[in-house]
Amino acid sequence: MITEGPKIFTDQGGLSLAMEVRELDRWRQKKRRILVVVVVLLTVAGTGAEAWKKEEFKRCDQTIFCRESRNREFGSSKWYINEVNVTNGKVRARLVNGEDVEAEHSGSLILHLSAYQDGIIRVKVKEADPKKKRFEVPDVLVKELEEKRLWIQRVIEKDGASMVVLSGHEVVLLHKPFQLYVRSGKETLISLNAKGLFHFERQREKREDENWDDTFRSHTDSRPHGPQSIGFDVSFYGADYVYGIPERATSLALKPTKGADIVSEPYRLYNSDIFEYLHESPFGLYGAVPVMQAHSEKKTTGFFWLNAAEMLVDVLAKEKAEEGTEDVSRVDTHWIAESGAFDTFFFIGPGPKDVIRQYTSLTGKSIMPQYFATAYHQCRWNYKDEADVFQVDGGFDEHDMPYDVLWLDIEHTDGKKYFTWDPVLFPNPKEMQEKIAAKGRKMVTIIDPHIKRDNNYHIHKEAQAMGYYVKNKHGGDFDGWCWPGSSSYLDMLDPEVRSWWADKFSYSSYQGSTPILYTWNDMNEPSVFNGPEATMQRDNIHSAGVEHRDVHNAYGYYFHMASMEGLLKRGEYNDRPFVLSRSFFAGTQKVGAIWTGDNTADWNHLRVSVPMLVTLGLTGITFAGADVGGFFGNPDPELLTRWYQLGAYYPFYRGHAHLDTKRREPWLFGEPYTSLIREALHTRYALLPYLYTLFREANVNGLPLMRPLWMEYPMDKHTFAIDDEFLLGTDLLVHGVYSEKATSEDVYFPGSQRWFDVRTGASYSGGQTVKVLVTMESIPAYQRAGSIIPRKDRFRRSSFHMENDPYTLVIALNDTYEAQGELYVDDGKSYDFEKGAYIHRLFTFSNGRLTSSNIASDSKGTKEFTTPCVVERIILLGLKSKDLSAHRVLIESSGTQVPAEIGPSLLRKGYHQTNSLVVRMPKVRISDDWSIKVL
Ligand SMILES: *[C@@H]1O[C@H](CO)[C@@H](O)[C@H](O)[C@H]1NC(C)=O
Ligand SMILES: *[C@@H]1O[C@H](CO)[C@@H](O)[C@H](O)[C@H]1NC(C)=O
Repeated sequence: MITEGPKIFTDQGGLSLAMEVRELDRWRQKKRRILVVVVVLLTVAGTGAEAWKKEEFKRCDQTIFCRESRNREFGSSKWYINEVNVTNGKVRARLVNGEDVEAEHSGSLILHLSAYQDGIIRVKVKEADPKKKRFEVPDVLVKELEEKRLWIQRVIEKDGASMVVLSGHEVVLLHKPFQLYVRSGKETLISLNAKGLFHFERQREKREDENWDDTFRSHTDSRPHGPQSIGFDVSFYGADYVYGIPERATSLALKPTKGADIVSEPYRLYNSDIFEYLHESPFGLYGAVPVMQAHSEKKTTGFFWLNAAEMLVDVLAKEKAEEGTEDVSRVDTHWIAESGAFDTFFFIGPGPKDVIRQYTSLTGKSIMPQYFATAYHQCRWNYKDEADVFQVDGGFDEHDMPYDVLWLDIEHTDGKKYFTWDPVLFPNPKEMQEKIAAKGRKMVTIIDPHIKRDNNYHIHKEAQAMGYYVKNKHGGDFDGWCWPGSSSYLDMLDPEVRSWWADKFSYSSYQGSTPILYTWNDMNEPSVFNGPEATMQRDNIHSAGVEHRDVHNAYGYYFHMASMEGLLKRGEYNDRPFVLSRSFFAGTQKVGAIWTGDNTADWNHLRVSVPMLVTLGLTGITFAGADVGGFFGNPDPELLTRWYQLGAYYPFYRGHAHLDTKRREPWLFGEPYTSLIREALHTRYALLPYLYTLFREANVNGLPLMRPLWMEYPMDKHTFAIDDEFLLGTDLLVHGVYSEKATSEDVYFPGSQRWFDVRTGASYSGGQTVKVLVTMESIPAYQRAGSIIPRKDRFRRSSFHMENDPYTLVIALNDTYEAQGELYVDDGKSYDFEKGAYIHRLFTFSNGRLTSSNIASDSKGTKEFTTPCVVERIILLGLKSKDLSAHRVLIESSGTQVPAEIGPSLLRKGYHQTNSLVVRMPKVRISDDWSIKVL
């Protein structure tokens, strides 16, 4: 029903811009009306209102490969190993299909097993004699990987099995039937094909009577290379739950989708622009990361399949342990992909952080953002014109609210031609940016991958002439509908196209851009309004003859990468890029930030943002956020306030709204909301030093900012399914408020230490659930006893103006009167930190003394970083009343004395706490070694 756009889109010009905007509006409304009609019809027919959304997307039983694969029975796999060799430090085994002995050689498969440092096993399976080489997704694995490969010398053959012994673990290949077990000591960790679902459709000639077409709604996929799907089971032993495989809006611990009496679709990984997604569904959204973690109090393991084709994953309901036997606590999963390579990785853990380190040592650590990018972003579809931009920018100042970045959506362009400006609405883009820059702020413009087929548009003309577009199955440029109407899509798989695209970001090419302008990539699934499932045809062709079906889930990643390279080039490789993307794939963490797409102003969407973001963190993609306020619909002021309060703890913090929504700049709702939102923004800005330190940790070892509780408390079973609260780093526990007029929330406090309310200083013992009272003033947030959090408490217009502001150190003492924390600081902008230009401090409190010491890795730095920043306040929480007395403390490094007072106020106005001690103006420099005798 949305296969035909309004006529206007076929017209390559002629009409005025205003008319074009109106037409688009009508088109959008029409789309909405059509949907409304469908909803009504379905409701009448007795199916729920949800059904219409699913209609546009394939169910598993509507795709040949998925239907067949999902119906396969346990033990149906007839593959066995008939030969094992060790060559080149890898194990090679020949797999033969017992149902197909005639094809013993030509039809066999070769399994390649290799091992890498840090507990990573890789298993590839290839056709021995492929008709067409299967697509292996490039640029996901880090370049240094080969250096980490271990040299396998030999296999031990025993009782029909081959065994590879590695340090601390081993891999067992059973020959008949073929099964693979990763073991540690006597324990099995993970297996492949233990349930006998391994299935590999070898490419073959089409039989005369055969039709390979796969039809869905009005679209027919010609499948010129025929069936080529791969499926197999992976079991995680000693596991209570599995997590991962984003992106979808659902719980953190993945619910079973098959077995027992469950009727559910499998979890789907097929990047899609889903209009108004549901808050609880196994359907895949805009991005895909085929990695899963399994966890129990005994161990954590993981599995990754490097494949960008449509993928489906079933989590099987746990089998009941047989009477008298011990519960095996195993989670079985079934993985199916339409095509592509069998290239899989097993991570042996043993802890949750080990698995993330293992996975990110393959796919890369998180990019180090610029400091501004970690602050608050203000976006709307659309800030209409330059006057609107200045009005919004001024509104923040007038209402004394900090913000760092103002965003422009598609309407800022000249007719949805990216890298252009609407000449009427944005006639002076440079001057506009300079005015914003003068306040220390930045701007972002949207750049999407669909290119308007307009012969007066230089990007289109060049791309067409150079043959840079994705081709349709007939070899012509693929032409689909998107915002500009008739559009073509750049073939971002091709490095030459990416490099050409990157050049378009240069100041000379992108007219009207300045160094404070950064980038936003939307619609890069890619979204094609009139394509099957709102994306492009699977039989479209990319460079080197790769079919779109093989590369689909990584298309958005390559586009994101090309845009990021553009900003890198533009800034001569010393200005850290910032590009936000909606679509993502394994490895996106190396490229930039993502957001969870077009959510809705609804309490359920606020709630589900937490498991969605925590899940992304488990897959290495930590620089992520959900649109504050909800993209569709109008949040009431209470919901909006709650969202600002929760968003203050998202790694990426942006307010955004749909074109049809009412304006919602944060001061528009009157008191008390304006003050409450200002307070939420202040919470964020105060925590920026802590957040930035965590971003550095993600950059060095891949650990996410937003963590599930079990990542820090892996032995605590109670935390395994919790997803309404999370940890930010190790030291902050955050619990959103997800309902209207809430007066209390049940907060679980993990660990054996106490937690201090960040506003009141009230403390709670760990290991219990407490019904804590909540007011509109804040959501529950707590600092861990034993931690030191660096903050900046002076509020300014933007983070830029806080650069030289002094720090506050908040010390939450544990029962032994000790605490520890870190601070990482660099110039917040360049890559000089990679040459040693940063400071990294460890703060330790013990024996009544606070010391600061250097923990910067003593790299052969060629650059240095200095900062004049000092500490202006030290707040101690967790003292006993006998220690609470006003006195003078000695700054041992300088021999001076300063006062310590019983805190009148802890953090915020209105809270008069007496259990804190505040050391005033110690004025020690943040970059120096020092010690202060406090008690
Ligand atoms: C194993 O080695 C033999 C002899 O070099 C070779 O013929 C055979 O193809 C190898 N098998 C595999 C699975 O690599
Ligand atoms: C208190 O915190 C310190 C520093 O983090 C830690 O080394 C110590 O083990 C903690 N003590 C208790 C009782 O938790």
